[in-house]
Amino acid sequence: MKINFFLNHIFCTVDTDPLRSLADVLRNDFNQTDVKQGCKEGECGACAVLIEGVTVHSCIYPVVMAQDKKILTLSGILDTAEYQAIKKGFSDAGSVQCGFCTPGIVIVCYDMFKRNIKPSRDMLMEHLSGNLCRCTGYNSIFKGVELAFEYYKKNMVSGG
Ligand code: FES
Ligand code: FES
Repeated sequence: MKINFFLNHIFCTVDTDPLRSLADVLRNDFNQTDVKQGCKEGECGACAVLIEGVTVHSCIYPVVMAQDKKILTLSGILDTAEYQAIKKGFSDAGSVQCGFCTPGIVIVCYDMFKRNIKPSRDMLMEHLSGNLCRCTGYNSIFKGVELAFEYYKKNMVSGG
């Protein structure tokens, strides 16, 4: 079946089994290797992408459901002020260890920043409850997001 969508603002077509997972299609047909596949069961959040502005675990999202929709992955936000702030915040707070969970967490944070949601600890626990990290114990991630939001609000970084 032919399926069309916009991937990171570019019109794309794929002819495939409609029930394949979006994560599989993005990684293997469109080289979006920043969409990680951990559990493949919708539990860990490593495969998070934004579809029409909503965070989705793409490993359990049949590609057919993406028909005509706008998909954003990490590689589609690299030029934004939101991402640049997150990058600096994570770097300053040492939020990244192995980095496997990072793309999914960045996507969730990007969405929070876009919607101007101030990342209090309660908010972060709620918004990141679907993103598992085996390495950090979360404190450095929370700190990184808080710093990033500060940088973002103070326009301390710029995006394209
Ligand atoms: S790989 Fe999709 S939620 Fe874990
Ligand atoms: S940094 Fe390794 S899983 Fe989060």
